[in-house]
Amino acid sequence: MLYPLSYWGWAVHRIVSDMTRRRQGRTGGAGAPLEPRLLPDSAWIDPSGRLAIAGVDLVGLAERHGTPLFVYDEGHIRARCREAREAFGEGVAYATKAFLCKAMARLAHEEGLCLDVSTGGELEVALAARVPGDRLVLHGNNKSDAELARALEVGVGRIVVDSFDEITRLGRLTDDAPPRATRPRVLVRVTPGIEAHTHEFVRTGQEDTKFGFSVASGAAAKAVAALELMGGVELVGVHAHIGSQVFDVESFEQAAEVLGSFAAPLGLPELVVGGGLGVAYVNGEQAPSITEWADATRVALAKVGVPPGTRVTAEPGRSIVAAAAVTLYRVGSIKELPGVRTYVSVDGGMSDNPRPVLYGSGYEAFLPRATDAERPRSVRIVGKHCETGDVLVGEARLPADLVVGDVLATPVTGAYGYSMASNYNKVPRPPVVFVAEGEARVVVRGETVEDLLRLDV
Ligand code: LLP
Repeated sequence: MLYPLSYWGWAVHRIVSDMTRRRQGRTGGAGAPLEPRLLPDSAWIDPSGRLAIAGVDLVGLAERHGTPLFVYDEGHIRARCREAREAFGEGVAYATKAFLCKAMARLAHEEGLCLDVSTGGELEVALAARVPGDRLVLHGNNKSDAELARALEVGVGRIVVDSFDEITRLGRLTDDAPPRATRPRVLVRVTPGIEAHTHEFVRTGQEDTKFGFSVASGAAAKAVAALELMGGVELVGVHAHIGSQVFDVESFEQAAEVLGSFAAPLGLPELVVGGGLGVAYVNGEQAPSITEWADATRVALAKVGVPPGTRVTAEPGRSIVAAAAVTLYRVGSIKELPGVRTYVSVDGGMSDNPRPVLYGSGYEAFLPRATDAERPRSVRIVGKHCETGDVLVGEARLPADLVVGDVLATPVTGAYGYSMASNYNKVPRPPVVFVAEGEARVVVRGETVEDLLRLDV
């Protein structure tokens, strides 16, 4: 594989600085520098500690585009898409809920991935990016008539059926539709009854869930029977998704075994194991790679008798985009409360990254002017919203020379940050830039006051 020059520069720099750190006995620990592996693939730290991604200096970017700013390394996303395509093969889909705009949809499509859309809105954005309907997979536990009708109209590649009501609705819509050359292809979503080790809000494989048909209760078998009897659709496979930010391959193996045992006797040509692969957000965290996840899944499926010719695919979201991005903020105030703590306020917050508030998610923070510096200062990084819960990093470490006006960055913010962003307190959503080969291009512009008012009548 060919790596850009900056990759080798970065690799050599990383080895040398790791060696230096080890010699000085300062690996790990609370005040340790940010681990460079949490940065996008084409990150390059110059000898003074300044960070560039794909050859674009981050402090300069913040000056040009303002802050907050989402910066995505395009090469990093492409590399993960290729890894997913190689590991799972044709049919693997990017889960657009993790991050979606036209540029992202086009990129995933160019790299040979299908796109998993879970609402009519995601479907329309993918179509607006000129992704053909047959490269889309439609999800959702409550698809409306309008969403299903649109999916049929544009010929989506797969519809993942989630409830008996949806089966009835689909039956009605396909009966009413003019006859077509090929019937819409559907998969049935099943819940394997696996408690993935992750936050309860993003766990979906257990019995107590709004998603899918339970294997254990027999509902999944009934759904299969109903779909097989329907003349208007073609049942091609079974789908399961156990949750998100799952670190242990064992949970995936267990789910694959339940899914495979259920699916093998049906003799259907496709199996989709969902998404959910976790990523490292903070120093010391380790996650399996997409390839390791795919290999473990395949072995588990073979063990329970899934024939080798079955098309086994997945829907990674987070593992494609999370580590591809960093968010840049500007420090506006440093408030030291003696005997309590230090609050560092930045110009974004829970409106551009609600994950810490929603799930208690941890992040690292660093200064792109001193990326590999020691971080002895213990602070809480908060946003500019009018509530105490507006915390970005509860227990952050930063360099001692932090000052008001510094550009501050949080890495691994490419998934479920921008896609869950809001206008709370009428804070405009930040722009998104893609960087590649020394160039930055704005793919989503920042919101303006006019945008904040455009829905008022
Ligand atoms: N497939 C299905 C059916 C899903 O429901 C999801 C995520 C995925 C694929 C992609 O999962 P991923 O590879 O991204 O883990 N907002 C939460 C995550 C919610 C995930 C919802 N479904 C968070 O910020 O952690």
